[in-house]
Amino acid sequence: MKFKLNNGLEFPEIGFGTYKSETGAILKAIEAGYRYFDTASFYGTEKNIAEAIKLSGLKRENFFIASKLWKFDLGYEKTKTAFNKTLENLESDYVDVFMIHWPRPDIDNREDWREIDLETWKALEEFYEQKKIRALGLSNFLPYHAENIIKNSKVFPAVAQLEFHPGHTQTFALNYYREKKILLQAWSPIARGRVSNDELIIELAEKYHVTTAQICLRFCIEEGVMPLPKASSTERLKENLECLNFSLSPEDISRLENMPPSGWSGEHPDRIRIKI
Ligand SMILES: NC(=O)c1ccc[n+]([C@@H]2O[C@H](COP(=O)([O-])OP(=O)(O)OC[C@H]3O[C@@H](n4cnc5c(N)ncnc54)[C@H](OP(=O)(O)O)[C@@H]3O)[C@@H](O)[C@H]2O)c1
Repeated sequence: MKFKLNNGLEFPEIGFGTYKSETGAILKAIEAGYRYFDTASFYGTEKNIAEAIKLSGLKRENFFIASKLWKFDLGYEKTKTAFNKTLENLESDYVDVFMIHWPRPDIDNREDWREIDLETWKALEEFYEQKKIRALGLSNFLPYHAENIIKNSKVFPAVAQLEFHPGHTQTFALNYYREKKILLQAWSPIARGRVSNDELIIELAEKYHVTTAQICLRFCIEEGVMPLPKASSTERLKENLECLNFSLSPEDISRLENMPPSGWSGEHPDRIRIKI
């Protein structure tokens, strides 16, 4: 199965997160079979992806690359400059997905974020129309941030990204994106290890003869959410891909949906980062 976007594009069921990923890890991921790579100008890994693709000997068209516009680059002109820099870093004349990374330029004193987001989106729409971006996306947009774009723009978002894992599913936002037929992607899909000692996750890992990370990743897929796990070793990145080889029963999905809150990263679009 693949994820089908509202503009007809199809994505694999799992992607690879590259925050803090070296070129070597990305190359190992390509060799293991990953074809979708999530990056951002902020991560500094756009060039690593370009390098890993070259080393793999495969053509650019075999891959999906998603990148994001950093909050200091919001605004019509700055977006254009930043997007062209992303293309340069990726050594490509297009990106598969380009997202606004965070809805606000800064948290403290910018009340004009709505206008700034719309100017930014307008610049992105132009790149979309020129086929330099295949799908437009919103990262860390809660429904009310997304409504601003949806109600006031031409091109409808196709992808959204939020922190999502068992114990932190942001269900109100998940339901909103489902209803709008916008594909939700999970960042921190294995909760950076936070849930590996959870009683229910351990019980299910034993029941299905898989690892706790695989339970988290499979849960995303069962929910129709595309997971973007990051891993460094060949063993782990292969283990994560194997979440495609089993499924969870409806009852176990429901138990995971209803497990108590597990904690989260502390990163919120409307608040200064909470140290957890
Ligand atoms: N849109 C946003 O604002 C946003 C924010 C955060 C992240 N992201 C994206 O989401 C991606 C993933 O998020 P994340 O890195 O925060 O969290 P994550 O994928 O949930 O967790 C990554 C951590 O889990 C470890 N790990 C990976 N596979 C494992 C396994 N099978 N067993 C045990 N541990 C395992 C990794 O260790 P090793 O690396 O040592 O293997 C790493 O420390 C990022 O790379 C980025 O692309 C987006």
